[in-house]
Amino acid sequence: MRKFLLASLAFVAAFSFTAASRAQEVAQTPPMGWNSWNYFAAKVDDKGVRAAADEIVATGMKDAGYMYVNIDDTWQGKRDEKGVLHANEKFPDMKALADYVHSKGLKLGIYSGPGLQTCARYEGSYGHEEQDAKTYAEWGIDYLKYDLCSFRQDVMAKQAPNDQAAQMKLMYDAYVKMGKALKATGRPIVYSLCQYGWDAVWEWAPQVGGNLWRTTGDIQANWNSVYTILSSQEGLQGYAGPGHWNDPDMLEVGNGRLNIRENRSHFSMWAMLASPLLAGNDLPNMKPEVKEILLNKDVIAIDQDKLGKQGRRVYSEGEVDVWERDLAGGAKAIAVLNAGSDRVSTHPFHLNLTKLGLHGPQKGRDLWAKTDVTLIDNMPIELASHDILLVRIEKPK
Ligand code: GLA
Repeated sequence: MRKFLLASLAFVAAFSFTAASRAQEVAQTPPMGWNSWNYFAAKVDDKGVRAAADEIVATGMKDAGYMYVNIDDTWQGKRDEKGVLHANEKFPDMKALADYVHSKGLKLGIYSGPGLQTCARYEGSYGHEEQDAKTYAEWGIDYLKYDLCSFRQDVMAKQAPNDQAAQMKLMYDAYVKMGKALKATGRPIVYSLCQYGWDAVWEWAPQVGGNLWRTTGDIQANWNSVYTILSSQEGLQGYAGPGHWNDPDMLEVGNGRLNIRENRSHFSMWAMLASPLLAGNDLPNMKPEVKEILLNKDVIAIDQDKLGKQGRRVYSEGEVDVWERDLAGGAKAIAVLNAGSDRVSTHPFHLNLTKLGLHGPQKGRDLWAKTDVTLIDNMPIELASHDILLVRIEKPK
């Protein structure tokens, strides 16, 4: 009897150890995939998600690392008498959709929030956290974006009207609650915190089980938004690493008013930031030049670098920013970004290698021109407005 008990204890321990270590393995590099919100918003449906999954495979995005197909807000229907949440008529069978996405070798993500309602005023998880986590696991969900939204009014403002610290504690507890509920399912589910960077989320997100956390408000498909977000990431590099990442929001590459140079710079800088790369465009109708950006394997390799060290801004001169990112094996990526609009060839930018801690000419690869380059101290670099030079140096000196 005692032997049997010990054996079963060992079995339980081994099982929970495997479950726990599997759960920890998610997001060892920044999650890559696609999310419905930035382009489709409330128009997302089962058909559109299947089409996105098909396209991820057909375009080669899957082979390039894009894995998660994420349904954002507006999928939620009503709870039944037992409190179980069902999808609305846009998603007739969520389990079948998950099976379909899995059959393509991809993973499925979903969206909810700790409040009574989500941002688009659909059913939230308030009071149903464990139940919802179980439902997701039963459907075969692999990723949850958990968006604060109405929790601010429903709970924080109501329960602690004049106490900001108490409000933040309520928010923290809400994220702990869903973190535990996801863990309890035993299914590895990426946990994405979306509360716009409130209360220095990067300091506590990993301890609530967060694999990524939004650092800012919502991105928009224009340069001003992209650059404002980029500039506010400075100093957060110490908080990112394998399994836990800063999230400057999903990609707008191919959307809105971003031109080709802006798309390229946006994608490059998200890679420098070790940011999640979640495409947010209309995949079945993407232009070849947008596809080329999203599929630049050398840039993706910067983002997905095993060392998991987020880049940092080394210096700026006027509107030109110089960033660096340390990569596995002693390699380095250097990005020179012209955020301005009025610098011309008579006054090119001159790169200062000393400020980058580099000595003498540096042999590298220009990841957009796809040519070899040698960076030389004080060399003139001419960049069109909002364009970028992204160089990988294998053996920096
Ligand atoms: C918030 C989030 C967005 C998106 C919408 C959906 O604004 O920050 O990324 O999920 O909600 O309603």
